[in-house]
Amino acid sequence: MSKKLLVTSALPYANGPIHLGHIAGAYLPADLFVRYKRLKDTDVVYICGSDEHGVPITIAAEKEGVTPQDIVDKFHEMNKKVFAEFNISFDYYGRTSSDVHRETSQEIFKKLYDDGVFSKKVEEQLYDEEADMFLPDRYVKGTCPNCGYEEAYGDQCEQCGTSLSPNDLIDPVSSLTGNKPITKKTEHLYLPMGKYQKELEEWLDTRENWKPNVMGQVKSWLNDGLSDRAMTRDLTWGVPVPVEGFENKVLYVWFDAPIGYISATKEWAQQQGDPDRWKEYWQDENVELVHFIGKDNIVFHCIIFPMLLMQHGDYVLPENVPANEFLNLEGKKLSTSRGWAVWLNEYLEDFEADLLRYVLGTSLPETKDSDFSWKDFQTKVNSELADVLGNFIFRTTSFTEKYFDGSVPELKDPSEKDKEALEQIEIQKKKIAENYDLYKIREAIAETMNLARIGNKYFTEMEPWKTRKDNPQVCANTLHVCLQISSALSVLFHPVIPRKMNELRQQLGLAENIGWDQVNGNLMKAGEEVEQGEILFQKIEDEEIDEQLQKLKNRAEEMSGGEDSRDYEPLKDEIDFGDFTAIDIRAGKITKAEHIEKADKLLKLTVDVGFETRTIVSGIAPDFDPDDIVGQRVCVVANLAPKALMGVESNGMILMAESADGSLRFVETDAEPGSPIT
Ligand code: 2FM
Ligand code: ZN
Repeated sequence: MSKKLLVTSALPYANGPIHLGHIAGAYLPADLFVRYKRLKDTDVVYICGSDEHGVPITIAAEKEGVTPQDIVDKFHEMNKKVFAEFNISFDYYGRTSSDVHRETSQEIFKKLYDDGVFSKKVEEQLYDEEADMFLPDRYVKGTCPNCGYEEAYGDQCEQCGTSLSPNDLIDPVSSLTGNKPITKKTEHLYLPMGKYQKELEEWLDTRENWKPNVMGQVKSWLNDGLSDRAMTRDLTWGVPVPVEGFENKVLYVWFDAPIGYISATKEWAQQQGDPDRWKEYWQDENVELVHFIGKDNIVFHCIIFPMLLMQHGDYVLPENVPANEFLNLEGKKLSTSRGWAVWLNEYLEDFEADLLRYVLGTSLPETKDSDFSWKDFQTKVNSELADVLGNFIFRTTSFTEKYFDGSVPELKDPSEKDKEALEQIEIQKKKIAENYDLYKIREAIAETMNLARIGNKYFTEMEPWKTRKDNPQVCANTLHVCLQISSALSVLFHPVIPRKMNELRQQLGLAENIGWDQVNGNLMKAGEEVEQGEILFQKIEDEEIDEQLQKLKNRAEEMSGGEDSRDYEPLKDEIDFGDFTAIDIRAGKITKAEHIEKADKLLKLTVDVGFETRTIVSGIAPDFDPDDIVGQRVCVVANLAPKALMGVESNGMILMAESADGSLRFVETDAEPGSPIT
């Protein structure tokens, strides 16, 4: 008996609308995979829901001047609706504020506590006296000890990417009141991860077919050694800690959020009228659990959550965690605060879901960050969906309608070419399935489109408009084959563009429940009726694309206060000419650029400065792809004392300008490397 499948997509925080970055990370790939598996007749449950706890929610509430409950109610409904409109086919979309979720998380926590899995620790934490509360990491700002950035958060410096704890910050202030926090003792329950690391590693060694980017990140965490992590927080918003002495605290959001997958499955089972059925997916060996997430969630899904479940003992652990990298937009890092994003609800006001499902699906950030651009959207819709798939279907059905009275012609004495074309159905079907099975969704889609390409090419080469007069049986055979390919496509393309393929099935008079394994070169029988339908895909005009680009630009300008009303950095204190001449700036040229493991923001650059070659670490990874900057002319502060950043010694600094939209630009010079800049 084949295994049951439990698929989850990361629970999005209910603190804002869903954008294309979310979709490309954890939702579209999961939905395609699930839809493929359902066609394969696998017993699948697909779970998601809103993550309604944690600091992201309280920060959003404060910003809007409403309660956290208001925020989560609003965005839970909104996001649930937009996912449905985009045809993400969750079996259940829960929320972590539900009673079932609270009970489930408390139950799991209590058992772990009773089993002695946690350790108690009293630590000094920053406390805002005026606000009368301990400050979560994100509520503390200060100067980064690593790069000197003055607006670093208590958990991470957004400038240099270093992960921090609030006590590391120089001159910390509370972002609630602007006051300097005091330190105060507080007791928490910690997961001593180092203690369970070995057991976790042994389990990880048994995982097969994990993506290298995922396993690479996991290994790098493990190599650094795992430390204790607090599982409780001094907050009022969250699941109350079910342990005596900790009544005024809540569970760490990353403790309760993934348990949301379990609680949502319980609610799904209740909805099915079979309340115990969730156990078949969470407490049965015969299940494959797959978590689809974005790369920023890897540590939680591959280390912390499995470690907790392993210590608990009653739950299945993930078979795979095919995390995706990030999606950029028009070549720049997506940023909701800067208005540089395309929101799904807005997209759906202007275009159909299927178009984006296809285009994003073909450029998912599976192995490295990828880019969405409106121009590329237009090109793929016009030259692939319309010109290849749509054209093939339309010429096949309209020819059948016109010259064969709308019924499938009989295949008689097929030629080698006819047979080869029919064989391509099975060949492509196999390739597509292999790719889906390995979570290579982009490739699966490309192979699906290849079948339409094969069909289109065959139609053109067979010239039925000529054989219709010279050799009607050859013409009949051509159309028979094209109709078989069309019907196969209606199933094989269904995971990607379900609405369009439903239309096509109706046109071809095919049953709705044809499964993957039934697809062959004989789905349609001679004599069956075929309708000539509407053209499946209309082309997108340049004006429509220009409009979208303008919308994006306007919003980015609006949110950055408009180019003219830009907030310029205040001028620094005056310096002497002597101070300036003490800085030795030289022309340089980047000869090599590479990412640094575990430092999303940093690139390791090899720079030719004429008289020598330097290694310089620069916080420009969010703005530049390493491949694009080799050969770039730069200005280098060449007499800066060396400094180690994430284990790499940096010898100098590259001058960058920050433009109005926050993106970084090189300060260029065409002088030869080594030339002094004075
Ligand atoms: O990063 C996020 O958006 C989190 N809300 C994802 C949670 S996934 C799961 F653990 F719930
Ligand atoms: Zn920093």
